[in-house]
Amino acid sequence: MREIDLFTPLELGSLTLPNRIAMAPLTRSRAGSGQKKIPTALNATYYAQRASAGLIVAEATQVSSLSTAYPNTPGIFTPEQTAGWKLVTDAVHQQGGRIFLQLWHAGRVAHPLWHPEGATPIGPSAIAAAGQTFTPQGMQPYVTPRTLETDEVSEIIHQFQQGAENALAAGFDGVEIHGAFGYIIDQFLQDNANQRSDRYGGSLENRVRFLLEVVDAVVQVWGTGRVGIKLSPSNTYNGMADSDRIATFSYAIAALNEFNLAYLHLMEASEADLRHGGQKIPTSLFRPIYKGILMLNGGYTKESANAALADGNADLVSFGTLFLANPDLPERFRRNAALNQPDPATFYAAACDDSVDDCGFYKGYTDYPVLN
Ligand SMILES: Cc1cc2nc3c(=O)[nH]c(=O)nc-3n(C[C@H](O)[C@H](O)[C@H](O)COP(=O)(O)O)c2cc1C
Repeated sequence: MREIDLFTPLELGSLTLPNRIAMAPLTRSRAGSGQKKIPTALNATYYAQRASAGLIVAEATQVSSLSTAYPNTPGIFTPEQTAGWKLVTDAVHQQGGRIFLQLWHAGRVAHPLWHPEGATPIGPSAIAAAGQTFTPQGMQPYVTPRTLETDEVSEIIHQFQQGAENALAAGFDGVEIHGAFGYIIDQFLQDNANQRSDRYGGSLENRVRFLLEVVDAVVQVWGTGRVGIKLSPSNTYNGMADSDRIATFSYAIAALNEFNLAYLHLMEASEADLRHGGQKIPTSLFRPIYKGILMLNGGYTKESANAALADGNADLVSFGTLFLANPDLPERFRRNAALNQPDPATFYAAACDDSVDDCGFYKGYTDYPVLN
């Protein structure tokens, strides 16, 4: 047992986190309006309210216009979006916080109905995810993506790199690469979505190549200690499955050791994963494989997080729904105060376009109460 708990400061690269309570990335579908995907002053207020986190990881943010899976999600591929994010980073820094941006490409689970001119999403292989997804016309089947040609893969890697550069210009403290939840990196990793026969498919080494090339490109922008990555070894969301998840993720995680990342963010299996036939792969399986800082996530409470820190399985723990509903979560943990209950009805806002002055985005967003 180590004498470490949620209130033990942590050196993360060149940053010092005052506590080990991170805010997990949370898509809230409230970034601007229409197709512009520009963060607003309201988004800045929301993140600034949560600046007492040891680290905020801001929500999944598109690196490409061909990556829209949900309404009102932010981007980081235009100067206007970068300027919008600057409002957010300034507000968080004024409150003494630290904030990373999660870089995201949805790949095959984007939907043409969200895209200008109905463009077909791209993916590692022309295989649709099983099931249905959100569209402006309600739930619709996922579409079959267009297979990326080998020489197009570098364009997607370049989009992640450009997103990383824009995040630097927007004043973030670092970036987290979204490798979880069945989005493009996960699609290349797992063999139910990747049936390529070029150097990005087939063997484990080939399926992990896209992930490593993205990490390398982003580290070139940010240097070591400022880039994290999130992986979800047990995840079934967005139709994910693999013939041997433990082998796939063990290989990928071992390969990440060479980059001296800020952290590896790993998700536990959720109830939904188990309902969808997923396998519960404990994150502790990967602890001996990964040599750097490990952030764990998924259903943690103050008590279970402290236990994971003390037994060495985690160095840092992120909280999603608890931070969503409790802007002052660290203070509530410190005082053993009661927690606000998250309201799932307001997790995501409905689509709202430029013609509407007030989309009511603040409800369930910036109005959760704080302690006196
Ligand atoms: C409303 C909502 C939005 C989410 N959006 C993202 C996201 O943008 N990126 C991501 O990696 N995970 C996302 N997640 C997953 C959370 O980061 C986290 O992994 C999950 O909520 C489990 O942690 P928790 O039990 O502490 O809530 C989202 C979860 C929720 C509830």
